[in-house]
Amino acid sequence: MRHIDIHQRSLKDPQAFWAEQAKGLYWDQPWERVLDDSTAPMYRWFAGGHLNTCYNAVDRHVDEGRGEQLALIHDSPVTGSITRFTYRELRDRVALFAGALLRQGVKQGDRVIIYMPMVAEAAIAMLACARIGAVHSVVFGGFAAPELAKRIDAAHPVLVVSASCGIEPGRVVEYKPLLDQAIHLAEHKVPRCIVLQRPQCPASLIAGRDLDWNEAQTGVEPAACADVLATDPLYVLYTSGTTGKPKGVVRDNGGHAVALWYSMQAVFDAQPGDVFWAASDVGWVVGHSYIVYGPLLRGCTTILYEGKPVGTPDAGAFWRVIAEHGVKTFFTAPTAFRAIKKEDPRGELIGKYDLSKFEALYLAGERCDPDTILWAQEKLKVPVVDHWWQTELGWPAAANCRGIEEMEVKPGSAAVPVPGYDIRVLDPAGQQVAPGTIGNIVIKLPLPPGTLITLWQNEQGYRDNYLARYPGYYLSGDAGYIDADGYLWVMSRIDDIINVAGHRLSTGAMEEVLAGHPDVAECAVIGVADALKGQVPLGLVVLKSGVKRAPEEIVRELVARVREQIGAVAAFKQAVVVPRLPKTRSGKVLRATMRSIADSQSYNLPATIDDPKILEEVGAALKGLGYARDKA
Ligand code: COA
Ligand code: AMP
Repeated sequence: MRHIDIHQRSLKDPQAFWAEQAKGLYWDQPWERVLDDSTAPMYRWFAGGHLNTCYNAVDRHVDEGRGEQLALIHDSPVTGSITRFTYRELRDRVALFAGALLRQGVKQGDRVIIYMPMVAEAAIAMLACARIGAVHSVVFGGFAAPELAKRIDAAHPVLVVSASCGIEPGRVVEYKPLLDQAIHLAEHKVPRCIVLQRPQCPASLIAGRDLDWNEAQTGVEPAACADVLATDPLYVLYTSGTTGKPKGVVRDNGGHAVALWYSMQAVFDAQPGDVFWAASDVGWVVGHSYIVYGPLLRGCTTILYEGKPVGTPDAGAFWRVIAEHGVKTFFTAPTAFRAIKKEDPRGELIGKYDLSKFEALYLAGERCDPDTILWAQEKLKVPVVDHWWQTELGWPAAANCRGIEEMEVKPGSAAVPVPGYDIRVLDPAGQQVAPGTIGNIVIKLPLPPGTLITLWQNEQGYRDNYLARYPGYYLSGDAGYIDADGYLWVMSRIDDIINVAGHRLSTGAMEEVLAGHPDVAECAVIGVADALKGQVPLGLVVLKSGVKRAPEEIVRELVARVREQIGAVAAFKQAVVVPRLPKTRSGKVLRATMRSIADSQSYNLPATIDDPKILEEVGAALKGLGYARDKA
């Protein structure tokens, strides 16, 4: 069957379509309604059904005779180790840790924060939560203590699972002091922590609160899989919004399992036993969906990679992993390829490895420049699939679904809507635009299974942020167009979210940090184009009158502040002092105009600007940093 026919069927009769896909999983009790629209626009999938996500991802494969197949490979060039787990071993490890959680009093529906580097134990902790029906909330290890504290206060965890340290090339990042500081900063008091001690830097534990990972499991009974409703939450994942307050995306159990199971075959063409590798981090949605749940639900072997595309040890790191483990499908962010291309422009290291099992490369997380796609295609000689989705959606919304039909690749486009997604482009008045015209990318409700069901304890926020702009549609926050062949071209964000090396960050959160500096009167953070990371943040600050200190000194403090309060991952390294910020007469800071100036792009002078001279001042300041080269 052709993609277009399957896509149409999925929209015409979503109930029948998704009921059919759901048969691929093991249900403890079948659903009563495939799509419960009784509280629309808050939809629920597989209402009344019972299934355990951990059972489907792990135990089921053992029960069906694939217990000796590899489930998880931890490949860690930063520690020089490779650890392999069969499905049977993974089941036993997960069941034991789930038992440890139960022993600590974790109950169904309780939240557990996981703040860990890329160790196998992070996936084990996630699956253990799923096993007992607890709700995990993984926090990316590159976030600093105040960001972790925000998530502790939002999720109110009964327990935090962490590790003594993470390992970045050239430095050991001590996690435990960050955890201690976050717990100190948070209003919600975390009663219990379980800490994995790593030999690179063991941590001191706080008696009465902290437990060693191994000790916590000593003498514990392995836990059975709990009875979980399909509509119960599986996890909350906090993602950047336009303000400093992250949004807690809630994923259910049933819709999530069905959608990921389906996407593994339809989008990624992955079969049980295939080796599937997503080089991301468990702290991001890609890690949740395609390091942990997706490949395991499908019975694949998944790789959890603790390393970088370059420097661990060189730009051949990815090819080494693909060759060593026989990877068939590989997923990463375009920025990783730009890093490789910079170090090995001719792709000479590729030839050193046997990539005969490698069939396709998938890129997502940020807009992929056509040069990168063409380079990857030419050097790797496999199909390169750019696909579009978001933390909120949980799985690809637009892609070249190679499991259904291999379609023509148009570099720069994320291809066509995936079955289940009715993607439209609307103008500000809510009218659908003509093919090729840029507008707001929206998805007609109901969203398919596996997408967010709400924001954690903030249904109003969900409605306001995503559903209110165009009733009946989900607002993606991206702008772009659909061409005459039905291909989606995602061009930019419509809000102040930026994408730095595939990491989603809020300029609003950085502005809050800069504004907290005692010498800063007002500020703006914009995302400027960067050849490696796609975008990087840049701060423009106006000092309080009377401040006599050297601007360079203040800039140094601002850079340190963002690193301490948000984390190194923000990659906030540049700021400049300006006399004034350009604003509309109503006081709105003209961030988009400043971004165009920085990127040397043409822009329309906003009619309502306060004083156009300010743009010249900003242009001059940006020139000093090497931006605004051609015109300003
Ligand atoms: N724990 C602690 N610190 C972390 C971290 C973690 N888990 N992840 C990143 N950091 C730190 C880095 O060490 C770096 O610190 P520095 O400023 O002291 O150098 C900073 O955060 C920025 O990291 P990163 O954005 O990764 O930049 P980089 O310069 O170290 O590496 C790339 C550049 C392109 C190689 C890297 O960004 C990359 O591999 N990107 C792939 C993106 C990806 O997987 N995205 C996930 C979505 S699919
Ligand atoms: P995240 O929630 O971190 O996955 O980031 C989602 C955002 O990244 C989207 O809203 C887009 O702005 C951007 N993005 C992700 N994938 C693509 C893609 N293939 N093309 C263009 N932008 C993308």
